[in-house]
Amino acid sequence: MKIQEIYNLAINKGVEADFRGREAIVKLLKRKKEKYEKLSEKEKEEFDKEALENPYLDSRIYHIAQDTEVKKVLAGIDIEPAELLLAKEIGGIDLIIAHHPLGKGLAHLADVMELQCDVLNQYGVPINIAEGLMKERIEEVARGVNAINHQRTVDTAKILGFNLMNSHTPCDNLAAKFLKDLIERENLERIEDLLHLLKDIPEYKEAMKIGAGPKIFVGDEENRCGKISVAEITGGTEPSPKIYEKMAQAGIGTIIGMHMREESKKEAEAANINVVVAGHISSDSLGMNLFLDELQKRNIQIIPCSGLIRISRLK
Ligand SMILES: [Fe+2]
Repeated sequence: MKIQEIYNLAINKGVEADFRGREAIVKLLKRKKEKYEKLSEKEKEEFDKEALENPYLDSRIYHIAQDTEVKKVLAGIDIEPAELLLAKEIGGIDLIIAHHPLGKGLAHLADVMELQCDVLNQYGVPINIAEGLMKERIEEVARGVNAINHQRTVDTAKILGFNLMNSHTPCDNLAAKFLKDLIERENLERIEDLLHLLKDIPEYKEAMKIGAGPKIFVGDEENRCGKISVAEITGGTEPSPKIYEKMAQAGIGTIIGMHMREESKKEAEAANINVVVAGHISSDSLGMNLFLDELQKRNIQIIPCSGLIRISRLK
């Protein structure tokens, strides 16, 4: 497979697993195209044209040094210059795949957060409330990533001559869908049942060995789960802390998240929502693994690094 084919596969898998459904995404891209057509020539020049084709702007190809047939991939959660030097040391790496966004993908992280509005709406939060609260948070995240040295790793890849891409929201979509399907198959009554279920997932089992396994942030093992939401597993990063009260009103009893800030924890607690934090890097690994299995199926060798707990689900 060539780099572009691997990238397209990631986007396609992300769309397949997207809670909004393919049709809604096609409609969204169509709307963006119509808006683009109405822009002035100057505005069109400034417009990121990838936004017309790619619903996940936090996932990109950053550099193609050599457009070779990819046989060996170095994959990690965070790729920094250190990992690129590692790739040089290992040798024969055709492509480096990061999970977390870099460069312009990181600058556009906030763009994918709109997804959360639709998912929250599916869980019963009125769309106007989801949009209102997310808008504030999306702007905050956009400002937050603005100060970062976006191109540091990309520049290193260019100097060392490495092919570099990332897959963030497509992989998080895969993890969210995996967890949702699993939860829906089980009849989970209490938080302890949910914890047992999560702890049986190999990535979380591995994380437990280093003390980073699933944890109850709010609530108690004895608490009833009620309706379980995986809305926080995908869609860029954490939502506004103000959303928890609205989620409780919409009938959500328990949230499974990757991570949660203290301010959000307090709000969830005040709203009597149970919070189970599955784990950040382990949840990221789960999503990456579901995508990397697709590459392994195509005879591509995967070398995990930078926190990636590589588990293959191929028989
Ligand atoms: Fe992450």
